[in-house]
Formats: sequence, structure tokens, C-alpha cells
Amino acid sequence: DFDPRSYDDLIMLTESVRRQVDLKEVPTIGIICGSGLGKIGDCIKDAQILPFKQIPGFPTTHVIGHKGNLIFGYLGGKFVVCLQGRFHPYEHGMDLALCATPVRLMHQLGVKNLIVSNAAGGVNPKFNYGDLMLIKDHIFMPGLCGFSPLVGVNDPRFGPRFVSIHDAYDRQLRQLAQNVAKDLKIVLHEGTYVMSGGPQYETPAEVVFFKTVGADALGMSTCHEVTVARQCGIRVFGFSLITNIANTDADNSVEVTHEEVLEAAREAGDHACTFVTEIISRV
Ligand code: 6GU
Repeated sequence: DFDPRSYDDLIMLTESVRRQVDLKEVPTIGIICGSGLGKIGDCIKDAQILPFKQIPGFPTTHVIGHKGNLIFGYLGGKFVVCLQGRFHPYEHGMDLALCATPVRLMHQLGVKNLIVSNAAGGVNPKFNYGDLMLIKDHIFMPGLCGFSPLVGVNDPRFGPRFVSIHDAYDRQLRQLAQNVAKDLKIVLHEGTYVMSGGPQYETPAEVVFFKTVGADALGMSTCHEVTVARQCGIRVFGFSLITNIANTDADNSVEVTHEEVLEAAREAGDHACTFVTEIISRV
């Protein structure tokens, strides 16, 4: 059985992937597609597609709106590796190290820059449905409560025991993304992303709580991946697609549905794809 805390198991997993694809170049850029943002993976040219079920150690995903493929190919003129679909901790017993294993795999394959994306609820009143938000910083709720991918014995080959998460979202890449957004006339906010454990959406009081502590967008992913990426020295760029506006009024119930989240993501799919492609071509 695959042990996400075993470095040797990671090497075996990596070797299995290498055997199944023909790596023409080292993929130095990794991409993780958020809910409904699988379209980014569909934009990859000369794609070699490896379904998650062919990767030993990868858990099976069940979330609707997430395909499960590891894709290699060209985007923005560069050879990339793309996770089309991801592992949400709420689906896998809050085993965050397991859920972040694709990032360690990418690192083994040679990834130096990681682009993470997600669908998120907007908390900042300036945000509208369909907007993009560049992630400037995060609040990793499960991580603060002991559910960190780095908990447990640390094999130093994964990286240091204690990891600084300052400057997790690379300043240079954020500046580059702002330039891209300006050139493409895309609305790009900048803010703090909160990862809650999910899978339930927040109550109005919880939304107010997060807003009070500085949240701009709410989701259920990403932070565990970024934490592992920083442990192994990968530069990170992250953005959220605002799929709905989180409700703060208990007297005025506004329900969030997964279908609504997916619909918004689908509508913005092309948009997100152009944005990511242009960023990659300028990295
Ligand atoms: Cl409102 N909350 C969370 N945690 N995740 C979301 C969301 C809200 N909307 C989309 N994803």
C-alpha cells in the first residue's frame, strides 16, 4: 500500500509515471486545475494523458466536475505537467499528505513553478461572479488545527521539517500575472484565500468570521498543495475563480450549490485558459 509519508514510495510512483509516458522535455511548469477548470488541461497540445487510476498510490476521485488525469504536453510554448482534477482532503479522510502527493510527484519530475487554481466563494464585497482573484496570501484552517500535510515524521529528502510560508505566492509571478491581466483586459483582484475543511459550505456566521479575519475568498483546497510546494522549493502562483458570493445574512438565506459553482467555472473556462497560457508563455 502506498504511504504518502514514505520517500521511497514517492520514487516508485514517479518511476511508474515515467514508464508510462514519453517525456520529451523536463516539465518545469506544473498546473493544478480547480473545480470546473479542467478546460485548462484540454488546451494542452500534443497531450499525453495518464488517468489517475493508472497511477499507483493516487486515490480515486469522485467529485463531480473534476476529471482525473495527469496530462503532459505543451501550453504557452512550454512543456508542462497538468493535474486535471485534484484531491480534496474531505474526500480522503483529511489525509493531507496523500492529497498533496501530486505536488511531490511534480517536483520529482522537475517542476520549478506551480500554477494552482480553484473555484471559490467571494467574501470581498468588490468581487463579482466570474471574476478572477490572484492569491496573495492564505489562511489554511485545517493546517492551523493540526491537519497539515507536513505532520508526522519528516523524511529530510522531502525538504525541511519547519517550512516558512512567507512569500508563498511569488511576488514576481504575481506582478507578471497583473501585467497579463492588464494586457488581456481581464478583471484580476488580489486577496487572501481561506481553505476550510468542507465539504459543507460555511454558515453566514462563519462567512462573517472569515471576513473579519481578512478573507477575500473561500474554498476547500489549494493550501495543502502550496504548503508542500514550498517545502520542496517550488515557486507558486495561485488564483481563484469567484463562482458565487458567500452569504453573510442569516435572515436572508442564499444557498450555494455545487452545480452553481461548476456552471460559473465552466462559463469562465476559456477565460481562465487564455490567462494561464499567457502567464506560462511569459514565465
Ligand atoms: Cl461559499 N465556500 C467554500 N468553502 N468553498 C466554495 C464556496 C464557498 N464557493 C465555492 N467554493
